[in-house]
Amino acid sequence: MFYLKIVVLCVLVVLAGAERRFPDGFKFGAATAAYQVEGAWNVSDKSPSVWDIFTHDQPHAIADGSSGDVACDSYNKWREDIELAAELGLHFYRLSISWPRLLPNGFTNIISEDGTRYYNDLIDGLLEKGIEPVVTLYHWDLPQNLQDLGGWTNPLIVGWFKDYARIVYTLFGDRVKTWITINEPIVICEVVYTMGTFAPGISSPGIGNYLCGKNILMAHAAAWRVYDEEFKPKYHGKVSLTNQIFWMEPYSEEFIEEAEFTMQYAAGFYSHAIYTKEGGWPPTFEKYIAEKSKREGYPRSRLPPFTEEEKEFVKGTHDFYAVNHYTSRLARSLQPGETAGLWPMFGAGEIDVFLDVHPDWPQAANSWFFVNPPGLRKLLVWLKKNYGDLEYMIIENGYSTREGDINDSKRIQYYQDHLEQVLLAIQDGVNVTRYTAWTLFDNFEWTDGYTSKFGLIDVDFNDPSRKRTLRNSARFYANIIKTHSLDDINTINKI
Ligand code: GAL
Repeated sequence: MFYLKIVVLCVLVVLAGAERRFPDGFKFGAATAAYQVEGAWNVSDKSPSVWDIFTHDQPHAIADGSSGDVACDSYNKWREDIELAAELGLHFYRLSISWPRLLPNGFTNIISEDGTRYYNDLIDGLLEKGIEPVVTLYHWDLPQNLQDLGGWTNPLIVGWFKDYARIVYTLFGDRVKTWITINEPIVICEVVYTMGTFAPGISSPGIGNYLCGKNILMAHAAAWRVYDEEFKPKYHGKVSLTNQIFWMEPYSEEFIEEAEFTMQYAAGFYSHAIYTKEGGWPPTFEKYIAEKSKREGYPRSRLPPFTEEEKEFVKGTHDFYAVNHYTSRLARSLQPGETAGLWPMFGAGEIDVFLDVHPDWPQAANSWFFVNPPGLRKLLVWLKKNYGDLEYMIIENGYSTREGDINDSKRIQYYQDHLEQVLLAIQDGVNVTRYTAWTLFDNFEWTDGYTSKFGLIDVDFNDPSRKRTLRNSARFYANIIKTHSLDDINTINKI
């Protein structure tokens, strides 16, 4: 009996250990984006992007009045970046291509030689170290001349983006096998057009955001189809877009419906058309906006409909589901006289939902960022329930501080807690295959400038050489990658 107990105990210990291991083939990476790291905003034939113009013309819109003119100088320091990625043992590195660096006038009649050389060097350099390049076509730096023609609110952008995508696949598709078409449509459309706070800073709530939304979905679908028809047969890669999704927790039992409805906006707005059998907008949301538009005296819904043909065009344009996740909200309906709660993104204001945060969720360095690790697991399970048993990739997740300490214990805790939730989601049956830390090194954090630091690696922005120094979180993450598990974290935590 005694021996039996020992055996049972050993089995339990082994099983518990096994649960802390990531599945074989699970990949770890880290991400950056062109405008946030490259600098070299006007070298060679590169034309200005909306972020170049916005930061130069409206420095007051950026917390420290800064810009991405030099940023981390990755345009010149890419070799060092690759060395650091290799030192961490990354399986993949997610980078984005700057549209105006590659196609200086936004169209495909002129392809920059310097732009092509830069991305070739970066991609080849990564592959030489055994690091897979994961490439985003669009991470917010639209060529300004296309913005002058209406940018994402002009339906012609569907064709412009498709042409751009074809050039990128032609130039780099022999070596890049995982593609993200568009990074976070909800931020592009809501933070630009509903809130007017991100470049190009146009405020058109309830109109511009929806024109942008439909065009983005169509542009993504066009770029996916070009790959599928012309490149997939020879290169066998995968293409999808990535969505930024806050987890919407009901404020209390009473508000389960409100939270679900908000999820249909927060996640559904850029998923339903692509990932469901019916296609088109999430029905509850489409009906709501149609009725509201009518009450407001509009002759038709402010949300532009999809024709049957357009629904077919967008439906099924995915090879995996990619999600960027940082934070959660508590959703409840508005009380009489109340206006939308914190951070009026994701439907608050439009859908009369108050988005609050729990007092126990610690705040990171950004106004919008409150930490709730279980939200990640719940989100992954929700996505599977709504969009099916797909391959799920976490394409961004990470933590910000103001101080930038090398001993960044809070960032370590964030990664540990979130990776634990990823393991739990996998145990729940969600097929998660990748985890991507945002970000490899501190960089230009949009309207927060350099005041908020997300890096596993510190960058000294006062040093002309932009010295990079590994934080403890980088060593912690490297160890997880090496051991392929969370088993060792307690030792590492004490660094
Ligand atoms: C994401 C974005 C990244 C990065 C991150 C942290 O929304 O894709 O570029 O800024 O947030 O705020």
